[in-house]
Amino acid sequence: MRMKLIAGNWKMYKNSQEAKELVQGLKDCLSKPLENACVVVCPPFTVLKEVCQVIDGSSIKLGAQNLYWEKEGPFTGEVSAGMLKNAGCAFVIIGHSERRKYFGETNESVNKKIKAALENDLTPIVCVGETLQQRQNNQTLRVVEDHVEGALQGIASSDILKIVIAYEPVWAIGTGVNATPKQAQEVHKYIRSLLGNMYSQEVSKNLLILYGGSVKPDNIGDLIKEEDIDGALVGGASLKVDSFTQIVDKSIKANV
Ligand code: 13P
Repeated sequence: MRMKLIAGNWKMYKNSQEAKELVQGLKDCLSKPLENACVVVCPPFTVLKEVCQVIDGSSIKLGAQNLYWEKEGPFTGEVSAGMLKNAGCAFVIIGHSERRKYFGETNESVNKKIKAALENDLTPIVCVGETLQQRQNNQTLRVVEDHVEGALQGIASSDILKIVIAYEPVWAIGTGVNATPKQAQEVHKYIRSLLGNMYSQEVSKNLLILYGGSVKPDNIGDLIKEEDIDGALVGGASLKVDSFTQIVDKSIKANV
């Protein structure tokens, strides 16, 4: 059985004090070791170190929200995969739609970033998903296929299971309107079929695919029941101890 993975994308929220309070609260609530499940928090770069110190000794893992693919050099404002590893990260979100929209992220840059993450032993959480207009024009599966194929260009079969994919329909992000379990399941299943064609049935069966977009305590239960949904990438609801721990609890319960 595939494990459950619940990741919180804190986006550009939380100063040092707020970050420490939030993650301490999560640590207190998630004190039991997790069975066949993983919880990740992805704070802004500025508080990675502090969050890392708080989660030490717990089952919560650390992730970042972006990286730059070069090892080091004159790239003002950028942070490398090696630096993230050094700061205690195990995961990194790559290709979030906000980065595609506001910061010119393309399939090519996403692909380079995934390779840099893998070289540094970081698990990339690769985001794919269509806009509202694309969905209305019946282009959802085509867009997702383009994102998946573009992201995974040249990724060897020996590395592919080190990657996590997150299906995040852009129209569901921060809107309060989540994809229905049926809509999400259709795309997740399609992604599995793509992986089967590109790699193998084993990869298709084992790769983790998360859903993201207005995940809340009251909708996670139905989403996680779907066969091809292995967890969630949570934005707004990951910023509060209560809502994030409820999402984690409900996802884990689906395992039993
Ligand atoms: P919301 O959960 O706030 O809709 O954000 C989802 C997201 O973008 C996670 O990466």
